[in-house]
Amino acid sequence: MLRAIVRYGRPSLHAPAEPVGEITDEIQRLVDDMIDTMYAAPGIGLAAPQVGVALRVCVIDLSVGKRGGELITLINPEFVERDGMQLEDEGCLSLPGFTATVARPARVVVRGRDRHGAPRTVEGTGLLARALQHEIDHLDGKLFIDRLRGLKRDMIVRKVRKLERAGRW
Ligand code: NI
Repeated sequence: MLRAIVRYGRPSLHAPAEPVGEITDEIQRLVDDMIDTMYAAPGIGLAAPQVGVALRVCVIDLSVGKRGGELITLINPEFVERDGMQLEDEGCLSLPGFTATVARPARVVVRGRDRHGAPRTVEGTGLLARALQHEIDHLDGKLFIDRLRGLKRDMIVRKVRKLERAGRW
């Protein structure tokens, strides 16, 4: 089932999410819905706070469902390693229409659980490293614009406010 993706300004996007305890049927439904919603958007990643759920769950698929085996579901992910640096353009389904160049580590290792509760470690470089960091940022209540320098961030926030006032956000 598709869930509505909330946009910049909604409280769930701007506060840290809670760790998942037991993986219940409700969590399984959330994961299924997040995968459907990510593919429908379409997007390469989605975090639970983006569908208004303050839990540490995210899904990533760089192929947007086009290649089997690329779907990554992570529950309670944490960084084990981060190194290097990359500068690339980045966007977010919660900030449609906006992109900016964001500096991030070039390689990360993340440890969490899969949807069955089994430990899962994911190593990523390039775009996968970026997606992992972007989604874990969501779980910490951060959007990519929170990683920009003041001026660029303020410009995007001003444009969002303007869209809000016009009833188009
Ligand atoms: Ni995002």
